[in-house]
Amino acid sequence: MTTAQHKIGSGFGAGTTAAEAVAGIDLTGKLAVVTGGYSGLGLETTRALAGAGAHVVVPARRRASAEEALAGLGNVEVEELDLADLDSVRAFAERFTASGRRIDLLIANAAVMACPETRVGPGWEAQFATNHLGHFALVNRLWPAIADGARVVSVSSRGHHYSPIRWDDVHFTRGYEKWQAYGQAKTANVLFAVRLDELGAARGVRAFALHPGSILTPLQRHIPLEEKIERGWIDEAGNPLMQFKTPEQGAATTVWAATSPQLAGMGGLYLEDCDVAELAPADAEGLAPSGVRHYAVDREQAERLWTLSAQLTGVDAFDAARV
Ligand SMILES: NC(=O)c1ccc[n+]([C@@H]2O[C@H](COP(=O)([O-])OP(=O)(O)OC[C@H]3O[C@@H](n4cnc5c(N)ncnc54)[C@H](OP(=O)(O)O)[C@@H]3O)[C@@H](O)[C@H]2O)c1
Repeated sequence: MTTAQHKIGSGFGAGTTAAEAVAGIDLTGKLAVVTGGYSGLGLETTRALAGAGAHVVVPARRRASAEEALAGLGNVEVEELDLADLDSVRAFAERFTASGRRIDLLIANAAVMACPETRVGPGWEAQFATNHLGHFALVNRLWPAIADGARVVSVSSRGHHYSPIRWDDVHFTRGYEKWQAYGQAKTANVLFAVRLDELGAARGVRAFALHPGSILTPLQRHIPLEEKIERGWIDEAGNPLMQFKTPEQGAATTVWAATSPQLAGMGGLYLEDCDVAELAPADAEGLAPSGVRHYAVDREQAERLWTLSAQLTGVDAFDAARV
């Protein structure tokens, strides 16, 4: 069974910027947490939310770089967090919950993409561990600090089209393929939002996942130049060949998901270009131009992934045995 994926005609589009998406919305008194909120799209998300009056906590694995990137921006604080290290996730969550503050907007934005095979923790594949399991543990550990009626935004990607969850080998123990691993992790980001939205309903917490568009950022650091040329992203001189969004446009759907009254009463949905996305054709292979794959919004898959993630991380805010 899948969720209701149909455009709502928001009036925004691919060219909308984060500032335009939040225009007229007053976030004074609201607290946002933006993982990776000091680079690429996360930085623009932080700027837009802080600009609308929110206090933004930016957990960073490179604290000094984060402080440098965010220098001069009021209403922002940097904290330490490495999503690939569950001890670091626990320590950050404990520090935050001890502060007694409440989170109104939680943006799970940080990620690595198509890195060479890397193992973290007990031998976990690094993209699944960082992009999904780290955020899973973070949100579950922060759950007591998440305010009733809050929104949780899981920044996924059209890259989820590359792979469903590989139930028989989530950690690629039988051969690694970097794009499949990214695809699986980004599918996990969508399924996480689908399940969290169901579990959070009792407290009015709504969750969304999204594709931000294609934007040149440090995310592409692991892609060799020849591959970027082969994929038609840039020419040999490094000039863009595709219609890339700017980072300000790339952060717009995240900011819209986190703040727009147009999404009131909705949740568990995958968004793109500041609107709800349609389902991608069932027979699409590889990267379809847009839309969400059925397997990424399938409620049974979402529940199964939640159970697996709770088993792997040992955390589940909704299971008394694992809190
Ligand atoms: N750019 C695109 O075209 C595109 C397309 C589709 C989806 N997305 C998604 O958009 C999101 C933001 O991407 P971006 O393009 O803005 O990339 P980016 O500039 O590389 O930013 C990613 C952020 O995640 C942080 N991060 C990585 N590993 C971490 C870890 N172990 N612990 C804590 N933080 C960690 C990075 O920290 P460091 O700076 O310290 O490495 C960085 O701040 C990602 O979820 C990505 O999958 C991007």
